[in-house]
Amino acid sequence: MNLIFRKIKALIVEDEKIIAKDIESTVQRLGHDSAGIVSNGEDAVRLSKELKPDLVLMDITLRGAMDGIEAAKIINESLDIPVVYITAHQDEDTIEKTKAANPYGYISKPVDDRDINSVINSAIYRYDVEKKLKEAEEKYFRLTENAADMIISQSLKDFSYNYVNKAAKIITGYEPREFYSTPDLIRKIVHPNWKEEYSKNFELFIMEKCPENFEFKIMRKSGEERWLNQRSVLLGRKPGETYEMEAILTDVTERKKYETDIEESNLKLRALTGYLQTVREEERVNISREIHDQLGQDLTALKMEISILAKKLARSSESYIVGSVSSSDLQIELQNMGMLIDKLVNNIRRIATELRPDILDKLGLVEAIQWHCEEFEKRTKIKCEFALKEVDKFIDAQQSISLYRIFQETLTNVARHSGAEAVKISFYDEDDQLILIIHDNGKGITHEVEEKSTSLGIMGMKERALLLGGKLEIKGESGKGTEVKITIPIKK
Ligand SMILES: Nc1ncnc2c1ncn2[C@@H]1O[C@H](COP(=O)(O)OP(=O)(O)OP(=O)(O)O)[C@@H](O)[C@H]1O
Ligand SMILES: [Mg+2]
Repeated sequence: MNLIFRKIKALIVEDEKIIAKDIESTVQRLGHDSAGIVSNGEDAVRLSKELKPDLVLMDITLRGAMDGIEAAKIINESLDIPVVYITAHQDEDTIEKTKAANPYGYISKPVDDRDINSVINSAIYRYDVEKKLKEAEEKYFRLTENAADMIISQSLKDFSYNYVNKAAKIITGYEPREFYSTPDLIRKIVHPNWKEEYSKNFELFIMEKCPENFEFKIMRKSGEERWLNQRSVLLGRKPGETYEMEAILTDVTERKKYETDIEESNLKLRALTGYLQTVREEERVNISREIHDQLGQDLTALKMEISILAKKLARSSESYIVGSVSSSDLQIELQNMGMLIDKLVNNIRRIATELRPDILDKLGLVEAIQWHCEEFEKRTKIKCEFALKEVDKFIDAQQSISLYRIFQETLTNVARHSGAEAVKISFYDEDDQLILIIHDNGKGITHEVEEKSTSLGIMGMKERALLLGGKLEIKGESGKGTEVKITIPIKK
């Protein structure tokens, strides 16, 4: 034991004057102070109270009503002062009795300097260590008792509770004493719908196969439902050893409520997005049809009128002049108007097709992708390569238009951002999933851009994939390009 010298003040209780003096001078010679000498138990208690010595050296047998053991008990228990006994040829029984009064050591008469020195030092050392331990225990107890979370220590042999703090009452409605008298009370108050899950997690936890952290619902004493998060540790694990569990249980009902609210509002938002997209597609179909059919037909009629007029003009043999316009000028103008109308018809067809490619409805998604690629290649000079399986039979109208829109947006991004020279498109089915991959050989999107981008393109693509019950992943490699992969389940 490494003892650090601490100067102390000792009270000597000894009714043999010479021995008392001898002990006092030894104590002083060892560098300590004497608080005085007394010869009976009552004075020992009184002076201990008054002078507050660090240590009392107490003769066991004292004359008077109070013997040494009795005095030592009072001094130690009520004044918290350590007592060392001075013993002569005491019998076993008396020595045994001293043990009840928490002895800090024994000095035997006749006293010896070295003996006194080591007994004083070890008594003081023990007293200091015990005091620190007590303070630490008190601090720990204060902390756990005042914690807002429920803290428990439970035996895993009979599931009785060794400790339950005050917060148990606030969280569960049950007093700590109710936990002490009802082993495994927590399991008993787990919500009926959670009992099975709780027991499963608990067993896994004991076998160290599940995280120390799990959540479950309880019914409070009042019948109210609460969500708890339990974090636990196992103690004393050795093969065959009975062990113990310490756990902290936090009431997470509020957090759970927010989580459910957020989840619900996400679902609502998704449903709304889905609805808006459907409406948008329907609108596009209508506008596209109106433009194509109505405008297209009117323009065709106009074209016919013009060509009839041109033919009539060509048939008449005389040439004439109206104002400053000759009939040949008129023929040229009519020809130009005809060409302009052809151009207009083409433009209208293009706009209508871009709004809603009827190829998608007539020939399916695979053909539509090919057609879009051809247009894309013409417009951007970025080469497109395909590996497309005939998967149209697995795709319904909603999946078809959504995948097409994702594909369109991906190619727009390639043209706008990638700097690529070529794009590879694969489309196939695998294990009840449809997979569409678009890979460009451009600069490669970075993870940060993809994660932090507030623009709506990629976000909308991901949302569309989620609405189809699938997912969209984007991977970029600097200088090597970007891969967009859409996976959706095949509807049965
Ligand atoms: N193929 C690609 N190669 C490199 N970077 C890309 C590629 N596709 C997208 N990005 C990057 O990701 C960002 C986000 O793309 P997103 O489509 O969401 O938005 P945007 O195209 O900028 O705007 P919009 O909302 O009009 O689509 C782009 O601004 C671009 O920096
Ligand atoms: Mg975009």
